[in-house]
Amino acid sequence: MMATKADSSALRDLSTRDCFDAHGKPGSRFITKYENYFSVYDRYLEPLRSRPITMIEIGVQHGGSLQMWKRYLHPDSIVVGIDIYAACKKYEEDGIRVFIGDQSDHDFLASVISDIGPVDYILDDGSHIPHHQKASFDYLFHHGLKDGGVYLCEDCHTSYWPRYGGGVRRSGTFIEFAKDIADDVNYWHLENKPGAPSWRTQMVESVEFYSSIVAFRKKAMLSPRQVDIGDVKALDLEAPFREGALGKFIVFAKRIPLLQGAVRRTPFLWNVMKKIMHRR
Ligand SMILES: C[S@@+](CC[C@H](N)C(=O)[O-])C[C@H]1O[C@@H](n2cnc3c(N)ncnc32)[C@H](O)[C@@H]1O
Repeated sequence: MMATKADSSALRDLSTRDCFDAHGKPGSRFITKYENYFSVYDRYLEPLRSRPITMIEIGVQHGGSLQMWKRYLHPDSIVVGIDIYAACKKYEEDGIRVFIGDQSDHDFLASVISDIGPVDYILDDGSHIPHHQKASFDYLFHHGLKDGGVYLCEDCHTSYWPRYGGGVRRSGTFIEFAKDIADDVNYWHLENKPGAPSWRTQMVESVEFYSSIVAFRKKAMLSPRQVDIGDVKALDLEAPFREGALGKFIVFAKRIPLLQGAVRRTPFLWNVMKKIMHRR
């Protein structure tokens, strides 16, 4: 069933769940989603609704979700579907384009992006095979998403399913890949940095985990600058240690990372340090 632009305007105050429910007229194209996904969609899509955007959904199947996004978004938005099955091409209509190819094929993804340009929002609801999810993310997040854009990978529960090569903390799954990106995001704070920052460090602002969904925000990232304000003298915690031989030793010892680490990790040493401080 075709969603007209007039329908779209009437539904623009509604949530993604409302648009899903409104889609369910007799003869409409099938959509299946986990119920908890809608609040996640709303969180990321709501700020993008006031203007025309381009979004990609990997995984077209019956074409229903493409129509749901079209109803939800600004009426001049473009919804782009990607699917491996040639039959999905028939779901193209005004405001909906469909590209046929493999989501893990970077040459194919490059041809899609060179046709439509970088997009505002990407949703991976394709094969759910972890190495496909990773391949799509690596190409599309890097080359196909605008600065300020959002990338959602859904149905990540396959990372826990043995038949998809998954398992808890199993290396190679999309969830483990996303956890590693948390390290890329925090690269700037490593004491011994391994080489130059990766493109992920320079482009991923955040990684957010939901039940079965991982969301990534894209933003040009630089080494964070610390900013200070206020009178430091009022908070000079080292002042009492500066007098006396023991105090001088403590100030000196606090600057040795090995000793600092030992005190922080060892309750006994921590208590000794606390007692010394209280004595003063
Ligand atoms: C879960 S369905 C998509 C459902 C649809 N997004 C919805 O919400 O109704 C997954 C789709 O991914 C497609 N698919 C499977 N492997 C793929 C691949 N390697 N590349 C692109 N699409 C793929 C399948 O053909 C299928 O249509």
